[in-house]
Amino acid sequence: MSVASIRGRSLLGLADLSREGVLEVLDTAETFVEVHSREVKKVPALRGRVVASLFYEESTRTRLSFETAAKRLSADVLSLAVASSSVKKGESLRDTIATIDALGIDAVVMRHAASGAAEAVARYVPHVRVINAGDGLHQHPTQGLLDAFTLRQALAERAGVSGPDSGASLFAGLNVLIVGDIRHSRVARSDVAVYTTLGARVRLAAPGTLLPPGVASWPVEVVDDLDAALTEADVVCLLRLQRERGSGTFVPGLAEFTRTHGLTVERHARLRPTAFVMHPGPMIRGVEIDSAVADAPNALVERQVANGVPVRMAVLYLTIAGLGREAG
Ligand code: CP
Repeated sequence: MSVASIRGRSLLGLADLSREGVLEVLDTAETFVEVHSREVKKVPALRGRVVASLFYEESTRTRLSFETAAKRLSADVLSLAVASSSVKKGESLRDTIATIDALGIDAVVMRHAASGAAEAVARYVPHVRVINAGDGLHQHPTQGLLDAFTLRQALAERAGVSGPDSGASLFAGLNVLIVGDIRHSRVARSDVAVYTTLGARVRLAAPGTLLPPGVASWPVEVVDDLDAALTEADVVCLLRLQRERGSGTFVPGLAEFTRTHGLTVERHARLRPTAFVMHPGPMIRGVEIDSAVADAPNALVERQVANGVPVRMAVLYLTIAGLGREAG
């Protein structure tokens, strides 16, 4: 069933979020961009609310931007350093979330290596809003939303349109090419969902071993000829090899992966002059993306990181503001 808004709901993935629901997040994020340029970078929207930050897997961008976003909305942040917590003594996810909930929280932002972990927590504490910050191979919804926000911003600037809903129609028929370790990528799954919902045409390019089982049922086209696909792309999104999930055993070697699927300087030259390059980070320069390409004028990588804050402010605001705190 399609969800028309994330207001007052947990955000576990993007597969069911309607176009209207996606645009609500992007338009709300637009209203928060300006907060960054203020001398005092704070609004009182979530004053008195408590957001827990629970990262079982490493993160730089997502954790810091969620915590920044919560603080800019005046929420209090409980940040659990999992590596030095009682998780290391064997405490279960269920007991950990029950313990944090007992301290009085409105929402939990969580990352976990297990697909479905965020959904499990949403069942354990149904009165707490759960925001999935990446679960295994499943979804990374706020990455998908900030990618769409960044691309909409770049498309709108290029088309010379402005306003809260600017650029949404520019996704219609847009040629989005996602390249790399699709198999192990929750970002790919969220990006495919959000871009197709907005009307883009999504194509995937990867070594056969790094395509997910069941990709035939995805709303995408798998391309064999990366070099040809690059000449037709409006935007190319690179994904790193997820060696922590064993991707290294799916390719003969890093140099081979770069040779067949890396965005080298030579491949970058195949792109149209108007095409954009995106990468969710962390980038492994010299493997999936050449360092010069990562820093090229058409690369949106730094904007993706910066936009993580207003987009996560929007997600926190929409999911939490207006909630009554029920007895837990
Ligand atoms: N893109 C992303 O999720 O980055 P982090 O792992 O640094 O949070």
